[in-house]
Amino acid sequence: MMVTEEILKRRTFAIISHPDAGKTTLTEKLLLFGGAINTAGAVKSNKINKTATSDFLEIEKQRGISVATSVMGFEYAGYKVNILDTPGHRDFAEDTYRTLSAVDSVILVVDSVKGVEEQTRKLMQVCRMRNTPVIIFINKMDREGRDPYELLDELEQELNIHVRPLSWPIGMGAQFKGVYNIYEKELRLFSVNKTKMAKDVVEIENIDDAQVDQLVGPKFAAQLREDVEFLEGYYENFDLDLYREAYLAPVFFGSAINNFGVGELLDTFVKVAPYPQPREASQREVMPDEDAFSGFIFKIHANLDPNHRDRIAFCRVCSGKFERNKFYYHTRLDKKLRFSSPTSFMANEKTLLEEAWPGDVVGLYDTGSFKIGDTLTEGELLHYKGLPSFSPEIFKEVINRDPFKTKQLEKGIRQLTDEGVAQLFVQQPGSRKIIGTVGELQFDVIKFRLLQEYGATADLHNLNYYKACWITSEDKEALARFISFKGSSIAYDKDENPVFFADTAWVLRSVQESYPALKFHFTSDFKLDAAAEVY
Ligand code: G4P
Repeated sequence: MMVTEEILKRRTFAIISHPDAGKTTLTEKLLLFGGAINTAGAVKSNKINKTATSDFLEIEKQRGISVATSVMGFEYAGYKVNILDTPGHRDFAEDTYRTLSAVDSVILVVDSVKGVEEQTRKLMQVCRMRNTPVIIFINKMDREGRDPYELLDELEQELNIHVRPLSWPIGMGAQFKGVYNIYEKELRLFSVNKTKMAKDVVEIENIDDAQVDQLVGPKFAAQLREDVEFLEGYYENFDLDLYREAYLAPVFFGSAINNFGVGELLDTFVKVAPYPQPREASQREVMPDEDAFSGFIFKIHANLDPNHRDRIAFCRVCSGKFERNKFYYHTRLDKKLRFSSPTSFMANEKTLLEEAWPGDVVGLYDTGSFKIGDTLTEGELLHYKGLPSFSPEIFKEVINRDPFKTKQLEKGIRQLTDEGVAQLFVQQPGSRKIIGTVGELQFDVIKFRLLQEYGATADLHNLNYYKACWITSEDKEALARFISFKGSSIAYDKDENPVFFADTAWVLRSVQESYPALKFHFTSDFKLDAAAEVY
């Protein structure tokens, strides 16, 4: 069957890392290996300048460019590979979390010198919540990095996942000789080479072979034999099912900038990574090989250029076949919509798309019909799950500066929060509006866009809350009592769910202890909560 064939060849994934670990470099090198681009440097424009933390317009400009590279698709060895880009700037972490809801697996890049860092932890936590399979690439082996055993221990302990090295480094930094591929029994010799792909592969049937001594020197050969013997005894064998269940992460070592270890990573990736998987909707589980099309919006990108005020909604196809010019059912609005110019993305090019299959991402021009999380189907009432809002960390109250523009301000705030720029909470009485975000930059974006697009002027006043938690209880009376007692610290999210604003960590702990009948959630998708407690 056509759908099945198309599904089996697709690999939709994201590369994630703490800023500076090498995500952009690895993305670019994968595109080079995949033949999607010809020269290094082509993906650089996609990278948000990490030093320009206060210049959000510059960042937005770069994000504008990055729309073209939001999804980078290419064909490799008979597979259709879709890389979903995630922003490098930490203030856009929510964008990244949402993008992770649209992938079937991830490659996590870790800097060999720095090991596990703050964003590595947070991003992995999101992957763990969804049981997303992970391959780990330890980058920058050409630098004097940390001991590989120590790195593996750190990955296991800090990321709460079992690891299984599939390649092993021979030396590091100035003494880096290459890697031994334990799985394929091949020795890959390292050479500094930023433009060409490493080709020095030597098949080694038996690691005791004297050839190994000649190639890497007796000292490193002896160390390698000792290491491989230890690894084979210590780590479980690589088990494909355990990887796909997100229990076990295969680990590769390399140097993205030197094209080293990248081809090997890609070859293994296409073989082992999962093809598009079934997805949970509120009503039922949807299989990718169902005939009827369905998909959901995981990202909305607005163009800040006043001459091109368009928005692109990114739809992940979950089942069936998407076709241009066909009517689809927008389940939240209970409305039929037709898309005459859906877009696909191939490396740096946007092209008109006629059809798309599960695992693909379709760019839909939008005039305000979409919210993050919306579902499209051929008529069935479905709502895809798993696009939670995370408990924000920074809060500001919106103060209207122009009473004649109240309506515009209301509309602007609603639309921007629908796009996922920030979260809106409303407090009664008085409809006091509180905006919550994960990063400071979002507030600059909001102020700018309210003025530019809606003509509304607003001040944003700092509020010193520690966290906002969604509250639920099976005991409806206890919940109502709590809400009435804590009135000034309660607001409602866009779906009218009550949210408690805690001033400090201590306050939060103390209410949790004093109100055992209540549950305090750190994401809006309560089922995912247990895993998100660290936030
Ligand atoms: P990011 O997207 O995760 O933020 O990281 P990015 O790829 O931009 O890489 C961050 C820095 O690390 C870059 O240097 C990049 O060249 C360097 N890098 C990437 N892979 C390797 C590697 O294998 N070895 C070494 N030694 N460095 C690597 P930069 O100076 O910040 O930028 P640039 O001037 O090189 O562009």
